[in-house]
Amino acid sequence: MENLTLKDEEFTGIAEIVKANSGIHLTDQKRTLVFNRLRPRLRTLKLDRFSDYLRLIRERPEELALALNLITTNVTKFFREEHHFLFLKEQVLPLVQARGDIWRAWSAGCSSGEEAYSLAITCWEGLDPKVKWRILATDINTHVLTLAQGGVYPHEAVAHLPAAVIRKYFDTDGETVKVKEFLKGNIWFRYLNLIEPHLPLRSSLDVIFCRNVFIYFTRETQRDILERFHRLLKVGGHLFLGHAESIAIDWQRRQGWVHLGQGVYQKVERNVGP
Ligand SMILES: C[S@@+](CC[C@H](N)C(=O)[O-])C[C@H]1O[C@@H](n2cnc3c(N)ncnc32)[C@H](O)[C@@H]1O
Repeated sequence: MENLTLKDEEFTGIAEIVKANSGIHLTDQKRTLVFNRLRPRLRTLKLDRFSDYLRLIRERPEELALALNLITTNVTKFFREEHHFLFLKEQVLPLVQARGDIWRAWSAGCSSGEEAYSLAITCWEGLDPKVKWRILATDINTHVLTLAQGGVYPHEAVAHLPAAVIRKYFDTDGETVKVKEFLKGNIWFRYLNLIEPHLPLRSSLDVIFCRNVFIYFTRETQRDILERFHRLLKVGGHLFLGHAESIAIDWQRRQGWVHLGQGVYQKVERNVGP
């Protein structure tokens, strides 16, 4: 175990299986990350070689799921890229007020839930209580989904929020805060792999947040997922991407997106002309 190394062919094998099962593209620069993230697991299993672990993840789906939990990067934060929540509050929710149907949002790649809870707080603050809304929050990582459902965070996770917001939406217990039950009421946390060609979702979503997820995918994987997002959104619905992510101009035209700025895209009818 002390002399554990990650050989070229072992890294390539792991990268291939990770890409095929999650879309995550592990470039050569991710070698140290893969080594450091998987090493404790090899130690637990008392394995001396990555080739043995590779065999294990090829043979056992539950070990592959665990490996993906270790490989995914789950950094997130309440009200990350706050301007997106302001956009919702100022540009989107006032129009929802006037509608009679249910407003649906999806946090795709929700990690430990901070994004979904930020969306829910935005809705509580910006919508009349009689308006119905639902948030679906999904991730491939089963560990972070459990954290998301629990809704317990260290106090520092909310320290940047106004005191009134903390009081209204969280119970404080020593070093931790817990999301109040009413805030969980409109959110459904589910396992979902974004590279599945047939996403088990009903269409007619109003909003998709998929932020800081595309950076791990190749352009090809991004394009396929964007196609599915386009199908699932209502015309006029919004897609929010992270600050380092964008839709190329030619795809915007071909797929039917308009960039409103700062990673906010609106679905428009696809150009079906010649
Ligand atoms: C960096 S976090 C982003 C969290 C949040 N959206 C934000 O911006 O703060 C990326 C998340 O994408 C998830 N993810 C990666 N590949 C995925 C896939 N194929 N399907 C679903 N979720 C995936 C990871 O597990 C991780 O929780």
